[in-house]
Amino acid sequence: MALKEEIARRRTFAIISHPDAGKTTLTEKLLLFGGAIHIAGAVKSNKIKKTATSDWMEIEKQRGISVATSVMGFNYGDYKINILDTPGHQDFAEDTYRTLTAVDSVIIVVDVAKGVERQTRKLMEVCRMRNTPVIIFVNKLDREGRDPFDILDELESELKIAVRPLSWPINIGEKFKGVYNIYEHSLDLFTPDKQRVSERVEIDSVDDPRVDEAVGEKDASKLREDLELIEGVYPEFDEQAYLRGEVAPVFFGSALNTFGVKELLDCFVKIAPAPKPVMAEEREVKPDEEGFSGFVFKIHANMDPNHRSCIAFVKVCSGKFERNAPYKHMRLGKSLKFAAPTAFMAQKKSIVDEAYPGDIVGIPDTGNFKIGDTLTSGESIHYKGLPSFSPEMFKYIENADPMKSKQLDKGIQQLMDEGVAQLFTNQFNGRRIIGTVGQLQFEVIQYRLEHEYGAQCRWEPISLYKACWIESDDDEALAAFKKRKHQFMATDKEGRDVFLADSNYVLQMAQSDFPKIRFHFSSEF
Ligand code: G4P
Repeated sequence: MALKEEIARRRTFAIISHPDAGKTTLTEKLLLFGGAIHIAGAVKSNKIKKTATSDWMEIEKQRGISVATSVMGFNYGDYKINILDTPGHQDFAEDTYRTLTAVDSVIIVVDVAKGVERQTRKLMEVCRMRNTPVIIFVNKLDREGRDPFDILDELESELKIAVRPLSWPINIGEKFKGVYNIYEHSLDLFTPDKQRVSERVEIDSVDDPRVDEAVGEKDASKLREDLELIEGVYPEFDEQAYLRGEVAPVFFGSALNTFGVKELLDCFVKIAPAPKPVMAEEREVKPDEEGFSGFVFKIHANMDPNHRSCIAFVKVCSGKFERNAPYKHMRLGKSLKFAAPTAFMAQKKSIVDEAYPGDIVGIPDTGNFKIGDTLTSGESIHYKGLPSFSPEMFKYIENADPMKSKQLDKGIQQLMDEGVAQLFTNQFNGRRIIGTVGQLQFEVIQYRLEHEYGAQCRWEPISLYKACWIESDDDEALAAFKKRKHQFMATDKEGRDVFLADSNYVLQMAQSDFPKIRFHFSSEF
């Protein structure tokens, strides 16, 4: 198959949700349809749920499982689908943000009873920043939940995106009878059964008397009323607007009952984007260019201390990736060959000879790669990673074993390159501060420093509100600010100036006292 055709048939996406909305269940059902697995329950959840934060050996076990499910590739009809898994636990939200740099679109799962939850809102912000096309699946219609019109309003206001229902439920909870597929004008009846696909009623339109026969007159007329309202309120579905990330089509169903999932998948493969051109620092790179290029969006460390190797996950952006071909590692300026790149198909990891834009290749690595590194056939291209966001928790990291300070430095350096957390160095006293999204990351760092690097660390509290990347067009103003705040100035791992504000009040005062300084809550501006 020609490069262009290979690209056109690829759909690379992530499913995101607040924990427990049904991401794992939906993923599994999609794999069932793709024939990648044969029975429900085969996908081990990659989430770290119901685990006490301190019981994190359990987490490591689960992380081990997650290598296999990091990328799930399968064929569906003419399409090659790559689902990129994201960690369910919110303390690893940064991993999810980075995974979003490697997808071409996203499916968001929302629980019909709970509506939009915190983590979904945050993830949507990242999608919005990147104009990622989004489809929403409202799940658990077999349970009592909220009125679907209320849910649509909430999706619009909370996720700040226009929505357009493409399917519509007939009742919910105990009285749930099925969904009308607005996109294809068909009716699917619900049979609460975890393995079987629902029954489809052939109809010409919603006015077909067979609708009344199937769901009863009362529900049929309610459905017609609802649809009329939908047509009146929501503009016709505009595929281009979806592709620009301006409108999100909404589907209703029940992942656990495999209901509404095939409709979602069938529509998804048709409308979701194939790999798109990517803006690198130098220029826009088109997927069908001959030269290979790709970037590392995730590094997965092997937890076995005897085999300290990692897998670097590379998203192919352009051209064809080939095994054993020499590729240039842009940051190191070195040419490297990869003898054992792996691809992820039908839940198996196997060595591949080639991969195409949209695909993810796993490269065994012993320390060459950092998150954000670019590989190319030779041209100087640098892909921009995702900016760092201000962490939410901060602690000083101190050496607890003076004999092992080299090991500690190396460990901290490598863990930060892997993107486990963010490091800031206080410009005033040189102390190192680790910033994370959640408490778990501190535990992971401490454990890994000890077990992989033989180093001991100690955490000391520091009360900080936010890390702000600062800049100004006025050098004098910048120097004056840094002088005044010298105790609170730090450097991030790229050497950029960061102001560590210890309270919202202090930050507001700084903003009003120094109008020429711009304060940013992410590292890219
Ligand atoms: P997550 O990955 O988003 O965290 O969610 P997951 O799929 O694990 O689903 C969370 C819980 O919701 C699971 O129950 C799952 O069975 C249930 N669930 C998913 N989809 C539906 C649905 O359409 N209807 C109903 N009623 N429940 C659904 P659990 O009891 O937490 O886990 P398990 O013991 O069933 O695995």
